[in-house]
Amino acid sequence: MLRTDIVMRRATPDDNADLIALAEDVWPVAYAYAGSDYAQHTIDTWWNTEANLRSIDQTTMLVAVDGEQIVGMGNIDFRPDVPIIWKLAVHPRYQGWRIGLALLEELIALANQAPVRLAYAEGNEQAARFYASYGFEPIGRNEPEQPGWPGQVRVEWRPRQQPRSAH
Ligand SMILES: CC(C)(COP(=O)(O)OP(=O)(O)OC[C@H]1O[C@@H](n2cnc3c(N)ncnc32)[C@H](O)[C@@H]1OP(=O)(O)O)[C@@H](O)C(=O)NCCC(=O)NCCS
Repeated sequence: MLRTDIVMRRATPDDNADLIALAEDVWPVAYAYAGSDYAQHTIDTWWNTEANLRSIDQTTMLVAVDGEQIVGMGNIDFRPDVPIIWKLAVHPRYQGWRIGLALLEELIALANQAPVRLAYAEGNEQAARFYASYGFEPIGRNEPEQPGWPGQVRVEWRPRQQPRSAH
C-alpha cells in the first residue's frame, strides 16, 4: 500500500539539494553490482545542479515527499516524439512501498495514452522486474559508455487498445 502520508507534487528548483541527496542515497546501493565508479559517474553526470535545474525546467518532474524529505522522484520528457522517462528513483528505505509504482502511474497518465520509453542499466534486476511487471517490453540496447560498465536496456510501454464498443 502507498502510505497515505506520502505526498506527490511537481518539483521546483528549491528541490535541487534534496534531489542530489536522494541520488547519493539511491545509486551506490542500486549500482553496487556495477562498481562505485559507475554509481559516482551517474550522480556526477545526471544529478548535478545544472542537470537537475534543466530537468525541472524542461521536463515534467514529480517528487514524492514524506514530511520534509524527498523520498522518490520521476520525470517525463515530452519533447521527443515518444515521451521518455529519464529518471525514476525511490530512496532505499522507502522501496517496496509502491511509491515507484505511484510515480510511474502518474507519469504515464500525464502521457495521455501515448507510448512511453525509458532505459535502465543492464544488471539492474530490481528495475527490470519492476518495469516488466508494469508491462514495459524491450526494444533495444545501448552499448556501455566504458568497458566494464553496464549497457542500457531500452524498453517501451504501450497503452492497451481500447475494446471497440459493441453495437
Ligand atoms: C525500481 C524502483 C523505482 C521501484 O520503486 P519501488 O517503490 O521500490 O517499487 P514498488 O513498491 O512501487 O513496486 C511495485 C511493483 O514492482 C515490482 N517490484 C518492485 N521491486 C521489486 C523487487 N525488488 N523484486 C520483485 N519485484 C519488484 C513488484 O511487482 C511490485 O508490486 P508488488 O508490490 O505487488 O509486489 C525503486 O526500487 C528504485 O528506485 N530503485 C533504484 C533506482 C532504480 O533502479 N531506478 C530505476 C532505473 S532508472
